[in-house]
Amino acid sequence: MSQEDKRVALVTGATSGIGFAVARLLAGQQHRVFVGARTGENVVSTVKLLREEGLDVEGTVVDVRSGESVRRFVRAAVDRFGSIDVLVNNAGTPGGGVTADLEDEVWERVIDTNLTSVFRVTREVLNAGGMRTKSRGRIINIASTAGKQGVVLGAPYSASKHGVVGFTKALGNELAPTGITVNAVCPGYVETPMAEHVRRNYAKLGRTTTEAVLAKFNAKIPLGRYSTPQEVAGLVGYLASDPAASITSQAMNVCGGLGNF
Ligand SMILES: NC(=O)c1ccc[n+]([C@@H]2O[C@H](COP(=O)([O-])OP(=O)(O)OC[C@H]3O[C@@H](n4cnc5c(N)ncnc54)[C@H](OP(=O)(O)O)[C@@H]3O)[C@@H](O)[C@H]2O)c1
Repeated sequence: MSQEDKRVALVTGATSGIGFAVARLLAGQQHRVFVGARTGENVVSTVKLLREEGLDVEGTVVDVRSGESVRRFVRAAVDRFGSIDVLVNNAGTPGGGVTADLEDEVWERVIDTNLTSVFRVTREVLNAGGMRTKSRGRIINIASTAGKQGVVLGAPYSASKHGVVGFTKALGNELAPTGITVNAVCPGYVETPMAEHVRRNYAKLGRTTTEAVLAKFNAKIPLGRYSTPQEVAGLVGYLASDPAASITSQAMNVCGGLGNF
């Protein structure tokens, strides 16, 4: 396949965990992948590592909380690879605590990073990214099973991910006649740096150890273990493919049976 025939994918938060696995998988599935995250050195090392594997990957820094940064990011992707066929809104942050004690800053950071950013990046990709004028497109939002059920001590996170699921369903219906599909992938517990951070926070709040928190979480999952980033990426890869053309406005779990909804 020539470079020009390859589809172009944009992945936010691609230097770690799920986003990294998604970037690697899409690049392996004949996409040219443009990656971004806030920490420049991690973007550089991610691009280097994936290019050393023979994959067609470029990237630059982006903060999805900043409209100007998102504009620069999408422009850089189009300049490098051309208009965008696949958008994966993956960048996200944990955040919560006892709701009555939450500071505004925590609420705003979580809602802005996890929810408003999905609107911000999607709008930019539809316009400057050129997806709006195409007859085929894929928008895949990484939500969470916390976007379908309430998570105790996770009100901002749960609210943000419910918002992502709602945005996905509304935009999916809006764009259905255009050939652009919009879906959410809802991971349960996935072993990533974010998952370690969450276990540390729960251990602090519950005055227990991270090992005890891990055992408690594993016990809640019918499969008995966390999912892997690669397992989440697998569904993203399928949703990006041609046979997934009739799947839109859906929110699908990758969670070892944790969510039954
Ligand atoms: N791990 C889980 O158990 C789990 C479960 C359900 C859903 N999810 C969701 O899956 C997604 C990825 O999670 P993960 O566990 O892979 O997280 P992770 O390992 O912490 O990686 C997060 C990525 O997002 C980037 N990022 C964070 N804030 C950003 C911002 N403002 N602008 C641009 N990039 C930003 C980070 O890089 P920088 O810090 O350098 O920006 C990093 O590349 C998130 O949306 C998360 O909510 C995760």
